[in-house]
Amino acid sequence: MIRSRWTAAGLCIAATVGVAWGLGFFFDHLMSKPPGGQLGYDPMENDAAPMDMGAVQRGWPNAMHDPSERARMMAYMHGMGSREPMPIAAPAPQPEAAPVDLGTLLAGAEPQVGQAKSQVCASCHDFTQGGPNRIGPNLWGVVGRDIGSHAGFAYSDAMKSEPGNWSYENLFDYLASPARDIPGNRMGFAGLRKPEDRAAVIRYLATLGGSAPPLPRPKEPAGETAAQ
Ligand code: HEC
Repeated sequence: MIRSRWTAAGLCIAATVGVAWGLGFFFDHLMSKPPGGQLGYDPMENDAAPMDMGAVQRGWPNAMHDPSERARMMAYMHGMGSREPMPIAAPAPQPEAAPVDLGTLLAGAEPQVGQAKSQVCASCHDFTQGGPNRIGPNLWGVVGRDIGSHAGFAYSDAMKSEPGNWSYENLFDYLASPARDIPGNRMGFAGLRKPEDRAAVIRYLATLGGSAPPLPRPKEPAGETAAQ
C-alpha cells in the first residue's frame, strides 16, 4: 500500500520531468538559431520592458495566436539565462522553528500519559519485569540499556551492530522513525510523529526497572530559573 503510493508518486515525478524535458526540446527546435548560437535579432529591441510571464501563462494558449507575442515569448525564453529576472517581492522571513529541547520536553511529559500512548507498542512488546519477548524484545528497564542486548531476543543485524545504549536522545530519535534512525532494523512501526508523545512514552519507559539514568536537564531560557 505505502510502497505503491510511493511508486505512483515516483512515476508522477518522472512523467513531469519527461514532459518538461520534451517541451524544452520542442521549443529549442522551434526557435531559429542562426549559426554561432546568437539570435538574429535583439529580442528586446521593440520592447525594453521585461515580459510579464504570468500574464502570458494565464492567457495561454490565446496569446500565442498572436505571432508577435509568440516571438516575444520565445525570444524571452531564449535569453532567460542572460537577462536580469523580473524583480519579485522578497519572501517574508519565516519564523525559525524553535529547536526542540529534549530536557524541557521530558520534564513536561507525564509518565501516565506515556503509559496510555504505549498501548500501540503492547502488541509487540511486553513491559513487565521478567516478561517474555514477543515480536519485539521485553522493554522492562530499556532506558539506559545497551542497544540490542536483551537476553533471548533475536535482534536484527542492524540492531545488534548499533553502538551505544538507549539514552533519552537515542530513544527520542529512534521512536520518531525507527526505519530512518536505524536502517535495516526490524521494528515494524512507523514511529510517533509528535515530540510530546515520544517524550511521554520515554518517561513511562524510564519508570520501568529503576535503572534509567537521570533526566537530561532542561535548557533554561536566559534570565529564568526552572521551577523544579
Ligand atoms: C509491530 C511490532 C512493534 C511495535 C508496534 C513496536 N515495536 Fe519496538 N521493536 C519491535 C521489534 C521487532 C524490535 C527489534 C528490532 C530489531 O531487532 O531490528 C523492536 C525494538 C525496540 C526497541 C529496542 C530494544 C532493545 O532491546 O534494543 C525499543 C526501545 C522499542 N522497540 C520500543 C518501542 C516502542 C516504545 C513502541 C511503541 C511506541 C514500539 N517499540 C512499537 C517491534 C515493534
